[in-house]
Amino acid sequence: MIDIKDRVRNKDLHAKIVDAKEAAAIIKPGMNIGTSGFTPAGYPKAVPLALAERMKQEQFQINLWTGASVGKELDGALAEADGIHKRLPYQTNDSLRKLINNGSVQYLDLHLSHVAQMARYGYLGGKIDVAIVEACAITEEGHIVPTTSVGNSASFVQNADIVIVEVNTAQPLALEGMHDVYVPADPPHRQPIPIVKVDDRIGTPYIPAGADKITYIVPCDILDAVRPLAAIDDAAKAISGNLIDFFNFEIKHGRLPKNLLPLQSGVGSVANAVMAGMVHSPYQNLRVFTEVIQDGMFDLIDAGKLDFASGTSLTPSPEGLKRLYAHLNEYRSKIVLRPQEIANSPEVARRLGIIAMNTAIEFDIYGHVNSSHIMGTKMMNGIGGSGDFARNGYLSIFFSNSIAKNGDISSIVPMCSHFDHTEHDVDVFITERGVADVRGLSPKERARVIIHKCAHPDYQPMLMDYLQRAEKATNFAHTPHLLAEALSWHTRFLETKSMKCKK
Ligand code: COA
Repeated sequence: MIDIKDRVRNKDLHAKIVDAKEAAAIIKPGMNIGTSGFTPAGYPKAVPLALAERMKQEQFQINLWTGASVGKELDGALAEADGIHKRLPYQTNDSLRKLINNGSVQYLDLHLSHVAQMARYGYLGGKIDVAIVEACAITEEGHIVPTTSVGNSASFVQNADIVIVEVNTAQPLALEGMHDVYVPADPPHRQPIPIVKVDDRIGTPYIPAGADKITYIVPCDILDAVRPLAAIDDAAKAISGNLIDFFNFEIKHGRLPKNLLPLQSGVGSVANAVMAGMVHSPYQNLRVFTEVIQDGMFDLIDAGKLDFASGTSLTPSPEGLKRLYAHLNEYRSKIVLRPQEIANSPEVARRLGIIAMNTAIEFDIYGHVNSSHIMGTKMMNGIGGSGDFARNGYLSIFFSNSIAKNGDISSIVPMCSHFDHTEHDVDVFITERGVADVRGLSPKERARVIIHKCAHPDYQPMLMDYLQRAEKATNFAHTPHLLAEALSWHTRFLETKSMKCKK
């Protein structure tokens, strides 16, 4: 067994160090398991791998609650062992996604800021039976020092009957001090969250636990299974360029300060490309108040443009992880990791006036957004934190490529096939074609701007034709639709593999 005694600073706790198999044996079928982890960062690895082995022998399932997506040793291993009955609140794992979309796993797609309080309120189907959290150390007092994410760990630990801590020696001890853990009291006792600047610290640098709360401690030395980011293509560069033009326009008209307002940036290749593009922007002294800190933000720190980033997880690519570990002492003075309930708090997003920037799968001519479903039925990842920020920011921006699947799909459609964000939540749409600023516009005005500025030329005439026929058929109703035709673009794609009409 790897020696973790120097990382478990409370000597009495040494008696609780066991191997992963022994810890996993405490888990019973049907239990609610709450884990650390947010993206492939800071999730437990050794105990889930041992649990998956046991599931293969004994064939049983548990319910899995996490911060967000997690790495393959957790979602992948348990999905492949057919060990998950219900999963929440977000995922990106291929094996799990298949099980969700073939009916084998029940999936709850939740706003990420809601999860910890829903767990505390008892809304999620019982209480947490077991919390399994990754730590880089345990303090003298028995408190847990998290690793590359904070997620929902503090609330899960607080509320679990059994707490298993995986002390991961592959995670550098220099992570200690980067965290700021604050768990709000529940109503009617909740107080304002006292964050007024992105770098405010309001909690403890550890998850409060205490030696008595911890059941088992398990050694682990498996690195976070970080994933490479897609290469930045021309479309992503064009989206980033359009965003910067838009910001310049806003600064010129006095609606944004020269160093912008705190930026929130979503997940995925488009979001990362947008942040990377900011390196070549004229802005200095930027601040970030977001969920996931990806490579693009390290680029901004290295370029001297980013003063401070607040998030709930460090999610670099494999190259980014090497860079992070090599320069941790520099980055740690500019980064804080908070519970996702705070990182994604609507209250704080509204107070700080963040610029919310998220990616859509598709949006419609009236400004509704689908972030999560393919063709209205298949789950891609989930809504994630996009809703936490989109509804509460100073500015709410959604990106998308105007087309997908080599042009056979238009990402701008007459009606979304699923709704995550409504017309009331979005101010600006940006594709590689341009910027649709829909602030202050009625639905019919909005539709023309979105079609004209954002849609691909192959689909613009079809969208205008739909809009005009819908206006005529409804006698210019508030939101004109041809209900029998509104989803015909999706059904045409499913039948013919293209949204384009055959000549
Ligand atoms: N219809 C069908 N498929 C589409 C599509 C559309 N309109 N638009 C994109 N896709 C497909 C792409 O072809 C790609 O498919 P592939 O995996 O088979 O190659 C996939 O969706 C991802 O698209 P991509 O362009 O690579 O975007 P991305 O990596 O930037 O991810 C989201 C985009 C929307 C999936 C991702 O941002 C997400 O899950 N968002 C929801 C959660 C969120 O916003 N969190 C942030 C909060 S801080």
